[in-house]
Amino acid sequence: MDKKDLAYSNEKEIHTDFKKKMTYGEYLNLDMILNSQQRRSGHHDEMLFIIIHQVSELWLKLIRHETKAAIEAIQHNAYQESFKMLARVSRIQSQIIQAWDVLSTLTPAEYMEFRDTLGNASGFQSYQYRLIEFALGYKTPHILKIYRKDPELLKELEEAYHAPGLYDVAIEALAKAGLELDEEIINRDYSVLYEYNESVEKAWMEVYRDVDKYWNLYQLAEKLVDIEDWFQQWRFRHMKTVERIIGHKMGTGGSSGVGYLKKVIDHYFFPELWALRTKL
Ligand code: HEM
Repeated sequence: MDKKDLAYSNEKEIHTDFKKKMTYGEYLNLDMILNSQQRRSGHHDEMLFIIIHQVSELWLKLIRHETKAAIEAIQHNAYQESFKMLARVSRIQSQIIQAWDVLSTLTPAEYMEFRDTLGNASGFQSYQYRLIEFALGYKTPHILKIYRKDPELLKELEEAYHAPGLYDVAIEALAKAGLELDEEIINRDYSVLYEYNESVEKAWMEVYRDVDKYWNLYQLAEKLVDIEDWFQQWRFRHMKTVERIIGHKMGTGGSSGVGYLKKVIDHYFFPELWALRTKL
């Protein structure tokens, strides 16, 4: 190919002098990001293992950002804004589910080459994952102990633990729309693990039976179901990928491994939204 045919060769305005201007790498802090992949074992495949976790953590950061804003938007009756953010969360979830396809190229033999270098480190200690679970109402107090070594982080987790989550504000929205709910649900303690309540199911049933009247609540409910559906798919792909790589060995975090991961799949964040489908 002739040099003049290259796309950039006819471009007269391409910026090349960055002595006083910010570059792409500077804006994105790429030096820091791209120098954060230290393979402790030096093994070739550890690079994949590190990057897949780091990429997932970056996406989790965006999920937190969007979820937090969506909770505030719902509290202020800004439903359309919240739907946009929640739709974005679902698309991110679909990205991190796709990531399992890349990780499944890691064979058991390859993983065993560097597994010992992880010590007790495990995704189980991912605080961003726990912050997201808290925002979805999955409040599990035993998790907090892990973060005692970092008081600032512990404080952030404790605050999130006591704050209303996505489903709490959705239930508040049901009450604001005049739907009848038990007193104990309206005045409940947000730091207690959410459990199924009949009056909440009845309220959602009314929404689903009169979609035109409750269009915003109906949309909100379906966005929540999307998020839970994708979350379960992530959990399932994680569990299956783990089984494929370590079988039924214990996890580096100290759990029974696949047995534990199978058990968490049974948990529902928004139980009434699933229960009502059988009755509609
Ligand atoms: C070779 C790859 C992987 C293996 C063998 C693995 C294994 C495990 C195991 C056995 C657990 C249970 C806790 C324990 O005892 O350690 C766990 C939990 C967890 N892992 Fe992974 N994992 C892998 C990749 C990933 C990736 C890429 C992520 C993405 C961030 C991740 C995030 C998590 C999270 C968030 C938990 C906590 C789940 C919960 O408590 O519900 N894992 N992992």
